[in-house]
Amino acid sequence: MLNKARTIGKALHAVTTPNPDTRVRRLYELADPEKQFAHRTTRYINIGYWKDGTEDPDRAGEDLALKLADVAGFDPSHTVLDVGFGYGEQDFTWLRANRIHQVHGLEVSPRHVEGARAQAESEGLQDRADFRVGSATDLPFPDGMFDRVVALDSPMHFNPRSTFFKEALRVLKPGGVLAAIDTIPLSADTPRGTFGSPRLTLYRYSVPDANWYDRRTYARQLLDAGFTDPDVTSIRDRTWEGWYHYWTSLVDDPEALRELHPGAAQEFIKEWSDRERIRQEIDLLDFVTVYARKP
Ligand SMILES: C[S@@+](CC[C@H](N)C(=O)[O-])C[C@H]1O[C@@H](n2cnc3c(N)ncnc32)[C@H](O)[C@@H]1O
Repeated sequence: MLNKARTIGKALHAVTTPNPDTRVRRLYELADPEKQFAHRTTRYINIGYWKDGTEDPDRAGEDLALKLADVAGFDPSHTVLDVGFGYGEQDFTWLRANRIHQVHGLEVSPRHVEGARAQAESEGLQDRADFRVGSATDLPFPDGMFDRVVALDSPMHFNPRSTFFKEALRVLKPGGVLAAIDTIPLSADTPRGTFGSPRLTLYRYSVPDANWYDRRTYARQLLDAGFTDPDVTSIRDRTWEGWYHYWTSLVDDPEALRELHPGAAQEFIKEWSDRERIRQEIDLLDFVTVYARKP
């Protein structure tokens, strides 16, 4: 009972926080990775890329990271900036496989930064991975430092995304690439207030109005920031669909629910209780890969 009141109190505190970066941080810190399903093997916090036959969110999270690597066109010599890196799972994947040389990561959540730093140390990768607290709209790096700037399932939160584009352009080398995976509406006419299901309410409270536009406007904003060759491609059939099918099937699986930390199961069932509404809401959302080049 006391725990439930505490959870509600923290959620209320998060959604009523006036500063947008602090609000998004508090919202993400409501979820504790230690209280996830016992069978989870990674700390990815993304929607995932669900190929035919993909059966778990760890594989799907990893495949979304690999998708971003392909869009970015990584090279083993590259120095990369990853913005909104979560627990840095994708960075370790790219570093281990030597797809890139070095990563610098920026996150609003000190808890995420701490988690990623601890993992870098445990894997002996600290010389190639620098994780810091900071915000996408004020990058603490000199001009022309990076071969690639990437953001995996995070730019929808940046306040606003257009300032991040300008900052990304500044810190990229000439010829460098911005690559991202992002959530946008299929139509900008859908009000953000539509998202009222407990599972998708994050979009109501952590996406600035200024970021609420469709693919065409997205490409236009990249051009306006000074990028060339913008490409914004929908991958919604491999993302929202797989995500929805996986998690709704889990709610019906008592065996799987037993793997949840006591207390977390109740929260999980509540979040997924109105699956019709979640279905209607994801039908309004796009999920895209983003590419643009600095001239
Ligand atoms: C959906 S999670 C994705 C995390 C990670 N990329 C992954 O795939 O697991 C979005 C992340 O963006 C971070 N974030 C949100 N706004 C940010 C900002 N303005 N600057 C840096 N990070 C931000 C959040 O703290 C969260 O960790």
